[in-house]
Amino acid sequence: MKNIDIGKQNFMASELILGCMRINALNVDEADHLIMNAFNAGINIFDHSDIYGGGRCEELFGEVLENHKDLRDKMIIQSKCGIAKDENGRITHFDFSREHIISSVEASLKRLKVDHLDSLLLHRPDTLMEPEEVAEAFDALYTSGKVKHFGVSNQNVRQIELLKTCVRQPLCINQMQLSIIECGMISQGLNTNMTNKLSYMHEDGVLEYSRINNMTLQAWSPFQVGFFEGSFIDNPEYAELNKCLEKFAESFGVAKTAVAVAWILRHPARMQVIVGTTNYRHLNEILGFDKVELSRKDWYEIYRSAGHTLP
Ligand SMILES: NC(=O)c1ccc[n+]([C@@H]2O[C@H](COP(=O)([O-])OP(=O)(O)OC[C@H]3O[C@@H](n4cnc5c(N)ncnc54)[C@H](OP(=O)(O)O)[C@@H]3O)[C@@H](O)[C@H]2O)c1
Repeated sequence: MKNIDIGKQNFMASELILGCMRINALNVDEADHLIMNAFNAGINIFDHSDIYGGGRCEELFGEVLENHKDLRDKMIIQSKCGIAKDENGRITHFDFSREHIISSVEASLKRLKVDHLDSLLLHRPDTLMEPEEVAEAFDALYTSGKVKHFGVSNQNVRQIELLKTCVRQPLCINQMQLSIIECGMISQGLNTNMTNKLSYMHEDGVLEYSRINNMTLQAWSPFQVGFFEGSFIDNPEYAELNKCLEKFAESFGVAKTAVAVAWILRHPARMQVIVGTTNYRHLNEILGFDKVELSRKDWYEIYRSAGHTLP
């Protein structure tokens, strides 16, 4: 699998990431099987958050790592912090305070049973954030060796620029929802100078900003509709898209999910795709993505088959 240089920081990682948000549905043996399957296929980066499964996802990953002690140094382990939940798992607030960031990383390291994170992302914008405090937290985590690289998730251009007024380490990643269906950052650019609703600056030109500023976009939920409304793969509400994906899948001898991933990676922004399957058979199907070569015309055909119009 191709590796990319995240943020042009000489931080090499596979273009496919295994997202670990749902692995708490597995037992240790099943998680071991999924993670080793991914690793042996060339996926060397694993995405976590302190909140996934209430911490169980990181803990389970740590239990799997205990079975493969030699693997830690060959893996890139990424986690996120900044979302606070109550005991019932409901989001109560966002917290980019120095204390929260540092204590969250320390708890993640404990659950993962590792001494450092390769990358840490601020999960969702905290409007009460003080960039000076974030900078202090990042400095402390960086100088103690607990975090090697930093980034953000779900943040727009101004929020990133605000952080950059104080943060000293490069912000090399922005993790955003992106799929054939949920591709506002692409549609917005295509509809520049139009008055339709696609032209609204929801994401503030974050796609172009990321390319200009060497921030690697990590596309989360490549197969989901909305915020966890289920997959568009084989979903009758997306019949046209599925028909189109099927056509390309057949011509390349791969699964539709492989085409959906290849569609994201065809974009010259050199993104990564975070897949969240917990099923190793589904994962193996996705791995066919590198057999798919989409021309410019093919790429737009898939985009249009999802119901997006061109100006
Ligand atoms: N930064 C953020 O705010 C944020 C938000 C959400 C997610 N994420 C990250 O992104 C990762 C991926 O998110 P996601 O899990 O929503 O993404 P996804 O890969 O789009 O969705 C995976 C889900 O789709 C299901 N699915 C159904 N049919 C499938 C098929 N044929 N092939 C593959 N999967 C199929 C999977 O079920 P099976 O398990 O049965 O395959 C699984 O429940 C997460 O693990 C997390 O790391 C980040």
